[in-house]
Formats: sequence, C-alpha cells, structure tokens
Amino acid sequence: MSDICPDLLNAFNCPDTKKKAELTRALFKGVNDGQYNCVLPCFFPDRPGRPNKPELLAPKHVPRRRISTGRTGRVALLHAIAHIELNAIDLALDMAGRYAAYGLPFDFVRDWLFVANDEAKHFMLLSDRLESLDSFYGALPAHDGLWEAALATREDLAGRLAIAPLVLEARGLDVTPQLIDKVKSVGDEASAELLQIIMEDEVSHVATGKRWFDFVCGCERRDPISSWQGLVRQYFKGDLKPPFNIEARKAARFSAAFYGPLAAGRSSLQPPS
Ligand SMILES: [Fe+2]
Ligand SMILES: [Fe+2]
Repeated sequence: MSDICPDLLNAFNCPDTKKKAELTRALFKGVNDGQYNCVLPCFFPDRPGRPNKPELLAPKHVPRRRISTGRTGRVALLHAIAHIELNAIDLALDMAGRYAAYGLPFDFVRDWLFVANDEAKHFMLLSDRLESLDSFYGALPAHDGLWEAALATREDLAGRLAIAPLVLEARGLDVTPQLIDKVKSVGDEASAELLQIIMEDEVSHVATGKRWFDFVCGCERRDPISSWQGLVRQYFKGDLKPPFNIEARKAARFSAAFYGPLAAGRSSLQPPS
C-alpha cells in the first residue's frame, strides 16, 4: 500500500506557486506510474499554502479588469485568471485528499489529479504569459473570496462536488469564450490561444465533477437533480447567471435540467423564437 496523502498535503501546503505546480505535476505522474495505490484519511488544513504576494483583498476592493485599457488591462485580466487557476490547483488536490474517509475508489483520486495537473499547466501558462508582458503572478492584488466555497463544503463531499466543478468551473465555460473574443479584439493572439486551451480542458473538469456527483448520489440513493439544486441553494450565495454556454455544458454531460430552474431571470434559457 502506498498512500498518496502525505505528498498531496505537501503540494497543498506549499506556499511557492511554481513549486506547487511542479509538485502537482509530479503527483499526477506518480499516479500514472503506479507509485501510489491508496489515499488514507489524513488531516487537511482549512486553507492551502500561499505566497506573501499577491495581497488578498475583499472582492469589492479588487480593481476591475478592463481590457480596453491596453497592456495594463490585459495583465490585470490574466493575473485574475492565474489566481483562479492557482485556487483550482488547490481545490483539485483538496478534493483528492480531504474526503478519503468516504472510502471512494482510487479512481476518484486519479481523476482529481488529472484535473490538478491541468490546473497546474493553466497556472504556469498564465504565469509565463504575465512574465512575457513584463509582469508576474503576485504583482497585483487578488480576490480573497475564492476559497469560501471550499471552506463551506469542507465536510460535505456531495456539496463540494455540487459547487466547485458544477457551479464555479461551469461558470468558466460560460464566460471564457467572451474573454477569448476580447483579447483577440485587441490583437493578443498569444493570450487568446492559452485561454482556448483552458476552455477545452475545463469541459473535462466539469464532466469529472458531474460523473462523481452522480456516483455519490447513487451511493447515497439520492436523486441527482433535486440534490444538486438543494446543495447549490445551501452553499452558493447568489444566483446562477445566464447566459449559459449550453453547448459546452452539454459536452460535459451537464444538462440544463440541473441548472435551468436556478437561473436568475429564467427566460434567457428559452431558445430565440
Ligand atoms: Fe483551469
Ligand atoms: Fe478546472
């Protein structure tokens, strides 16, 4: 038996972002090489390791990102997405290790390390892009609200699966195509290309979340649709904002029967007549 938990914790607790990405990619490789075959319950701290910079601010104090203001606006946008990707690495590591006591199959860990590995790739793509624009991750303040959903669901696996991949990452599918168009419109093809890579990978992350959410509902004999809606009402503050990228969500096997009834202003889900 080779327990992955100590190495998962080591990556989760690592305050150095590039080192965290490196440790995460090594974990994924270790799983593929058969270096680990189980995850034993271990204590996961409430928060991941973080560098001193960026300064974390309440969401209302983070300056808005406008790409029309040239390089500065693009750097702010890419910095904000890099911060989301860093949180996504930790969310995936946390998912793989925190719920070990539920006795899930090791495929659960494998799947979330696949996701964590993608998130590490996304973070490094953005970090490198920021450096090529004479900036770096940590140069600007960032949003302190991203770990809230993780804290709220830290003792509820179904809740975590309902929110992290199926609300937060699914939201990424809705907004990223517009961001790609915006960076293209200011001639930044390099950033557009990396956002396109992120967009394509994120479809599989939502699909992974949906597959495991259904699995957990099956084990607990719960109806997936009504359970998901109840968990979203319980843990997610605010409305689900349309318009939804219904095609990308469908590609992730996430049907509108789940999220449609919770949409703010439900009429926007109707096809044009
Ligand atoms: Fe990502
Ligand atoms: Fe993701």
